[in-house]
Amino acid sequence: MTLSGRHIILGVSGGIAAYKSPDLVRRLREAGAEVRVVLTRGAQAFVTPLTFQAVSHQAVHTDLLDADAETGMGHLELARWADEILIAPATADVMARLAHGLADDLLTTLCLATEAPITLCPAMNHIMWQAAATRDNAEILERRGIRMLGPADGPLAEGESGPGRLMEPRDIVTALQGESSHSAIAGRHVLITAGPTHEPIDPVRFIANRSSGRMGFALAAAAAQAGARVSLVAGPVKLTTPPGVERVDVKTADQMHEAVMARAAEADIFIAAAAVADYRVEQIADQKLKKSDNSLTLNLKPNPDILKDVAALPSGPLTVGFAAETESVREHAQAKLVDKRLDMIAANQVGDGMGFDVDGNTLDVIWADGEQRLGPAPKRDVATALIQLIGERLNEAG
Ligand code: PMT
Repeated sequence: MTLSGRHIILGVSGGIAAYKSPDLVRRLREAGAEVRVVLTRGAQAFVTPLTFQAVSHQAVHTDLLDADAETGMGHLELARWADEILIAPATADVMARLAHGLADDLLTTLCLATEAPITLCPAMNHIMWQAAATRDNAEILERRGIRMLGPADGPLAEGESGPGRLMEPRDIVTALQGESSHSAIAGRHVLITAGPTHEPIDPVRFIANRSSGRMGFALAAAAAQAGARVSLVAGPVKLTTPPGVERVDVKTADQMHEAVMARAAEADIFIAAAAVADYRVEQIADQKLKKSDNSLTLNLKPNPDILKDVAALPSGPLTVGFAAETESVREHAQAKLVDKRLDMIAANQVGDGMGFDVDGNTLDVIWADGEQRLGPAPKRDVATALIQLIGERLNEAG
């Protein structure tokens, strides 16, 4: 009952997936939450207020300008009452209205008037989900710290298939429970590396890799959402800093090493999601190298191993490494766990459109006496699950 006593406003907007929302109310209440339901006009075309009244045991709110309702719990009171606003299903329309700050009905007004965290569970046709406008709106909302759960991939109501299904009510409740059982993470200092490093060859060229930084940034967002103080040491990436996260930009592995070591001793958790170049060019040319007909040899020397150095600190943080492998994923990850003396390692298969520079991921997380698979799922959901798992390990470590 980890949602015990938590005040949740469930906003339901007008999509076919609204038929699952009464089940969500039931499950939230079973987990101990107090639930008040707000229906948009569109939602009422699919489900009736009476259904929600029966499952929530509370009056259902539908209108912003309803004088009778305002004499009960008015919209501002409702906004203050909420510990969390959950919108499931969230249609493309409600996402657009929230992204642009509209307050033309009760639900959107509540979202503007509340200081509580907001979680959206999008559900719509897969083409609508992938439309440029919806992508932009989702990015705006996530940048503001609004959390997205789903959508799930699979068969859709109209007979097509793709990303757009409402996440199952059971999984939504599990995700919310994870968020409120993160007491081990809340208040901790989490240090994260993300993105590639660029190792210069000459003033205009460098050695790099395909890391976009998405995995590390998703972890930073999830840790901040779980109440941690987050420092994110980022290689060269084109991503927006998640709300509440301290960001340090670096280019090379050496700079990343320095930035991490300056913070690692006082961190509680270190997560190495960056794809750090293992080697750098021994002699960086002062001037642009000239083309010739001869072959060119670059001498490379090893970069410092940031993760290994942090794991070797006396009374250092709990260390979580990543292993990016193209074959024998578990075996290589297991070897890195032991060799680098890590507390946990998250292994992902990379190459052939997996791991690097894509939205989704699957992680095999391994520690001394256990392992768990996370995903396949969007990186933000995998990140939330990994932060939860790290919190559990921290709890067990006492
Ligand atoms: O950034 P994205 O596009 O979202 O892609 C995500 C990702 C695939 C980059 C990410 O999920 C991932 O796997 N990151 C680790 C990539 C990597 O460099 O793995 P590795 O197996 O080569 O290194 C093992 C571990 O040692 C990693 O935690 C790495 O950060 C760390 N390391 C490696 C070398 C070095 N000099 N210093 C390090 O800290």
